[in-house]
Amino acid sequence: MKLASFFSLASLAVCAFAQTIEIGYPNHNTHIKPGKQFIVQVNRPDTLTSSQEVAIVISLLQCPKNGHCPKPSDDLGIALYAGPYNPQFPTTHTPQDVPQQNFTVKVPSSFKTNETAQLAVTHLSLVGAGPFPLFEIKNVTLKVQ
Ligand SMILES: *[C@@H]1O[C@H](CO)[C@@H](O)[C@H](O)[C@H]1NC(C)=O
Ligand SMILES: *[C@@H]1O[C@H](CO)[C@@H](O)[C@H](O)[C@H]1NC(C)=O
Ligand SMILES: *[C@@H]1O[C@H](CO)[C@@H](O)[C@H](O)[C@H]1NC(C)=O
Repeated sequence: MKLASFFSLASLAVCAFAQTIEIGYPNHNTHIKPGKQFIVQVNRPDTLTSSQEVAIVISLLQCPKNGHCPKPSDDLGIALYAGPYNPQFPTTHTPQDVPQQNFTVKVPSSFKTNETAQLAVTHLSLVGAGPFPLFEIKNVTLKVQ
């Protein structure tokens, strides 16, 4: 009994892990410019478990000078995109050949140069036959130049 529930918990954890997204681009410490566009590539590596995408939010937070950025779960900053997420296998060969979607977003012109910014991607999907909700936030730190 105990063993069985351990296994079902473990397989739930595996499902949840397998459905998570990754920020394909930009990489950590990529330079961005106030008022300029950049591409955010959101990857969702392919799995056998079915899942239904609900939405993602791409947001950017100006970090305090000489200070630590707050956790994305406490402060997302400015939402640059909020809406549907529909990752697809790329039709031509790309450096990261997994289901992905590119979003072109713009750095707010109010962002100060020589400081850091935190890019966060918030993701909600429904996983499996239940289904159960999967909620996660991924982040990278960027340099405003
Ligand atoms: C941001 O992402 C990194 C991994 O890329 C992780 O180590 C870190 O904990 C994340 N920061 C927050 C505040 O979630
Ligand atoms: C998304 O953008 C990246 C970086 O510019 C590029 O390498 C990749 O091919 C693009 N993917 C798609 C599906 O257009
Ligand atoms: C940014 O930093 C560089 C060198 O660290 C400095 O020369 C430049 O004046 C700074 N720019 C601003 C806008 O603070």
